Amino acid sequence: MLLIGAGRLSFHLGHVLRKAGFGLAGVVGRSLAKAEALGKELACPAIHLGAPLPNAGLRILAVSDDAIQAVAEMLPADGTPVIHLSGSNSLELLQAHAHRGVMWPMHSFGTGEPADFSTIPLVIDADDEATLALIGNMASTLSGHVVQLPMEQRQRLHLSAVMASNFPVFLLREASRLLTGHGIDATLLHPLWKTAAERALQDPDKAVTGPARRGDVNTMAKQLELLADEPELRRAYAALSNLILHTYHPETRGQQDL
Ligand SMILES: NC(=O)c1ccc[n+]([C@@H]2O[C@H](COP(=O)([O-])OP(=O)(O)OC[C@H]3O[C@@H](n4cnc5c(N)ncnc54)[C@H](OP(=O)(O)O)[C@@H]3O)[C@@H](O)[C@H]2O)c1
Repeated sequence: MLLIGAGRLSFHLGHVLRKAGFGLAGVVGRSLAKAEALGKELACPAIHLGAPLPNAGLRILAVSDDAIQAVAEMLPADGTPVIHLSGSNSLELLQAHAHRGVMWPMHSFGTGEPADFSTIPLVIDADDEATLALIGNMASTLSGHVVQLPMEQRQRLHLSAVMASNFPVFLLREASRLLTGHGIDATLLHPLWKTAAERALQDPDKAVTGPARRGDVNTMAKQLELLADEPELRRAYAALSNLILHTYHPETRGQQDL
């Protein structure tokens, strides 16, 4: 395996591949210093992007989404399979290569300890059977949760992942910021957040509570007043509240929105 990119996912994937016994031919980086640091961590060679590449059974493009196509086009089209790791991008970005695929780990990777991939869903696809088998073999060695989805369904899954993960996390950030700004301990939100997440996993439809779910328009109007100094957050509060209101109180559709 050859890792191209020396960022967060390269770090995590490099560790888990090594632990699973896959040989690492090297880490390729546009910054040789970053590739060397990761290469040292993973006990494999570092290569400057643009220099000749070592032989590898698979080239893994772990670069920013916007760089995938340009970096793919820099690699020799010598028949070596190439994959990217992006949930929202098609295999067309790799069209310079005859054997191309994707392995999207549905997880949010930060810095710190190497992630445990065993429960992370790995969404795979490829344009030919041999490459799909190669990726499937690697993916199922790393995780017990491998699914093959074509591009259109990957995009839908990626959209839902953003809505179900990034949005609530950002809303918790904003809610915490408002409390801290008024000298109130933001960790008071944590038990509520955890219980809501647990209940939502059982039945998201039944887990929705709060003023918009109940149709308490006066409470929502007062809360909007408290957001007078936060116009963007106020608009987001109103948009989400209207969505909840219209979903659970369909008779409010077509009426004046908040
Ligand atoms: N992080 C996650 O939670 C996550 C989850 C699932 C999938 N992914 C996917 O994993 C891939 C990598 O993401 P990441 O989180 O590892 O990103 P990252 O930590 O930001 O690392 C991106 C890497 O791409 C390199 N790069 C950026 N532009 C480049 C260019 N024009 N030419 C050459 N190299 C370039 C960067 O080089 P420098 O270090 O020199 O800037 C860095 O090594 C993306 O496709 C992303 O969608 C990420």
